[in-house]
Amino acid sequence: MSDPTRFRAMVVSENEDKTFSRGITERSADDLPEGELLVSVAYSSLNYKDALSASGNKGVTRNYPHTPGIDVAGTVVESAVGDFAKGDEVVLTGFDLGANTDGGFAEYVRVPAAWAVRRPDGLSLKESMVYGTAGFTAALSVLRLQEGGVTPESGDVLVTGATGGVGCLAVAILAQAGYRVVASTGKESEKDFLTGLGAADVISREDADDQSGRPLLRGVWAGVVDTVGGNILATALKSAKYGGVVTCCGNVASIELNTTVFPFILRDVRLVGVATPDCPADIRATLWEKMAGEWKLPNLDAVTIDCSLDELDGHIESILKGGVRGRVVVDLSR
Ligand SMILES: NC(=O)c1ccc[n+]([C@@H]2O[C@H](COP(=O)([O-])OP(=O)(O)OC[C@H]3O[C@@H](n4cnc5c(N)ncnc54)[C@H](OP(=O)(O)O)[C@@H]3O)[C@@H](O)[C@H]2O)c1
Repeated sequence: MSDPTRFRAMVVSENEDKTFSRGITERSADDLPEGELLVSVAYSSLNYKDALSASGNKGVTRNYPHTPGIDVAGTVVESAVGDFAKGDEVVLTGFDLGANTDGGFAEYVRVPAAWAVRRPDGLSLKESMVYGTAGFTAALSVLRLQEGGVTPESGDVLVTGATGGVGCLAVAILAQAGYRVVASTGKESEKDFLTGLGAADVISREDADDQSGRPLLRGVWAGVVDTVGGNILATALKSAKYGGVVTCCGNVASIELNTTVFPFILRDVRLVGVATPDCPADIRATLWEKMAGEWKLPNLDAVTIDCSLDELDGHIESILKGGVRGRVVVDLSR
């Protein structure tokens, strides 16, 4: 284990000319924010939000210098609370970690104890980071479909942005839960990857991005897990079946949503928001239990891209362009 007085971290800095640069530098636990738990980071993972933080997006991170990394799996090395002791293995996702609190692209983080979940039995520290915030978001989206009454018998479920982190895990979890999943992707070459995860059918991004201007299309989806927003989300709403449920978690395509009221007033379609950072503790516990149990994927390796802190930079550039397939897991011991 490295030394908390001298450890490696990615630090993103704002330059005088308002550009941003990032590099791996040495930090000390004295530099970290206050918090009850000092955690030695075993693994982190790369999410789209991390790439925004790592490239100077002030909607995600207000102040620099900053260490991104919204996900951490690691071991408690100091605890100021009775709930956790030195040696406990914990998983940290969401809250302010990696946004405006120094995050997991570092060998140590210090966080409030309320942000920590014990590593679930059934998941290794590494497996918990294959899921990470992306998996947690996919799982919450699936839970929201189920709460909305979408069952495997209701019909097909569409996942957009399907090769991305949230998308690929949503495809796999839905398939595992018995749904017939249709995956939409901009990466034509990744059809086999998606069918390998359990997609029954794969359609192109263009097919999920209606340009006809019609207010309603043929209703085909019982449920949609949308991870991209914009016109693809609008298309999902107008092609949902009567009573369909459409979840919305992301904005890689656009933050805009132009829709008519027709999907809602003629087809009883429901649009459900998915926001993980402040997810209540009881839902957080339920979802980790499901990811470690009934929704645990047999093929987690298939979605995993292993990476060291030094190798992370290229993956950050790639995810910003929508180029990552699956989940980049950062091994802090490498
Ligand atoms: N609300 C929350 O709590 C929450 C939590 C986690 C993530 N998110 C959001 O969910 C989204 C996905 O996150 P992620 O970490 O899974 O990102 P990701 O790994 O980059 O996946 C996004 C995928 O979307 C597709 N895509 C990229 N650019 C696109 C474009 N211009 N138009 C249409 N599709 C495009 C690509 O998949 P294909 O090539 O297969 O189409 C890409 O792989 C992000 O917006 C993120 O901020 C929100």
